[in-house]
Amino acid sequence: MENKAVPVSGPVLGIESSCDETACAILAPDGRIMAELVLSQLADHAAFGGVVPEIAARAHLGALPALAAAALQQAGVTYTDLAAIAATAGPGLIGGLLVGTGFAKGAAIAAGRPYLAINHLEAHALTARLPGLGHAPLAFPYLLLLLSGGHSQIMLVEGVGQYRLLGATLDDAAGEAFDKSAKLLGLPYPGGPALEAIAAHGDPTIHKLPRPLRHRPGCDLSFSGLKTALALLVAAEPPGPLPYQYAADLAAGFQAAVTDILVDRLTNALAMAPQANTVVVAGGVAANQAIRGSLGAIAQAHGKTLIAPPLRLCTDNAVMVAWAGIERLRAGLSSDLAAPCRPRWPLEAS
Ligand code: KG4
Ligand code: ZN
Repeated sequence: MENKAVPVSGPVLGIESSCDETACAILAPDGRIMAELVLSQLADHAAFGGVVPEIAARAHLGALPALAAAALQQAGVTYTDLAAIAATAGPGLIGGLLVGTGFAKGAAIAAGRPYLAINHLEAHALTARLPGLGHAPLAFPYLLLLLSGGHSQIMLVEGVGQYRLLGATLDDAAGEAFDKSAKLLGLPYPGGPALEAIAAHGDPTIHKLPRPLRHRPGCDLSFSGLKTALALLVAAEPPGPLPYQYAADLAAGFQAAVTDILVDRLTNALAMAPQANTVVVAGGVAANQAIRGSLGAIAQAHGKTLIAPPLRLCTDNAVMVAWAGIERLRAGLSSDLAAPCRPRWPLEAS
């Protein structure tokens, strides 16, 4: 049941700075996107093979004021037109969180508007409820499979601020497993799309790869054993680039194993939460056609609908932060200016 919504008096500015994207978005009270800007720091970190927190924080600090100003200009509004200012306050890298929330709090004080501390996972969880995505309005409760480079979890979204974690990865995130496995196969970063492409030319039945946790109760995920099995098969080959067909067969085997794991976990989730009518799959891994197709088939077999929001809204962005802000305002919620940044912030504590 959704409670009667509190009217939202104006647009909401959302700020995302928890990892390596600096993003600002402005949404009208009905969720219409008025401005949407994302600056990726990929090039700043590329030489280091991963995100360097201090570089990320400094890059957010350098980029955010101008990006926010550009978003306001794009939307044709000023700070005092806003109903509230929302920023990701966790989980994430503390430096970037401090930059984003500090900026948001300062703007909220200056404009005399409420500040909203948004849990990044909550923002991912509510994205599919954004109007205008081409599917029927998404009502609570629904199941969410969040499968990205940084997160892998299955949750029941029961309402704003009401999340039940059904399972999470015990080791690598799904996207991380794709990236690490692709690297083992000599494929470029980000590995997911490259691995999917070569897997189309492989036979998934040639190599017997493990499916960790399959047929076990619950919805936890584990990918590191699968990655290790792949690493052992690669190590058994002579040094140098892998023969194309060998790499393609391994990629197909890996993708089939991940798909089987996710299908098994979704089957359990559907049994644990029969009240959910919809399954939302989000995160970069949701772009994988084989995975999306298999999850859709399982959902359909259980009489449920599968929704995958557009990729740009599944990857880190500020539209989802502003939307979570609107959802919170409608629920009559706002945050204290003293609300801290929380590098670790389980969704269930939001
Ligand atoms: O959600 P996302 O863009 O970024 C964050 O992690 O925040 O997810 C990126 C991840 C990467 O690990 C990438 O390899 C994976 O999603 N990915 C895919 C595919 N496209 C992106 N994994 C499997 N198949 C794909 N087609
Ligand atoms: Zn994210």
